[in-house]
Amino acid sequence: MNVNYTEFNADKLEYVEIANVDDLSNGERLFVQIDDFDIVVFNIAGKFYAIADICSHDDGPVGDGDFESEFEIACPRHGARFDVRTGEAVSLPATIDIPVFPVKVEDGKIEVGIPIE
Ligand code: FES
Repeated sequence: MNVNYTEFNADKLEYVEIANVDDLSNGERLFVQIDDFDIVVFNIAGKFYAIADICSHDDGPVGDGDFESEFEIACPRHGARFDVRTGEAVSLPATIDIPVFPVKVEDGKIEVGIPIE
């Protein structure tokens, strides 16, 4: 499915519980698969961000990358950087943004919003 990275229609999202808040500490990341989406969820200073685990440069996994700054993850393959808040490609060789998914916390559970058809 092609995801429109930042313009999700709230009426066309289904929130899926992925973990307890306590299971994802500050600085940690969690890899999950929901439907056809491989997703990485980060806890950065107590806030949660979810990106697709796919690099727009060459479709490699990006979620294992190191953070180059607070919100910028570097793809382990060729070093393209993405802002995990927006999915924006902020450095070459990637020029296309990657999907981000909305995240909310309900009753101590982390939920990721997945687009429904
Ligand atoms: S696959 Fe990520 S920078 Fe090339």
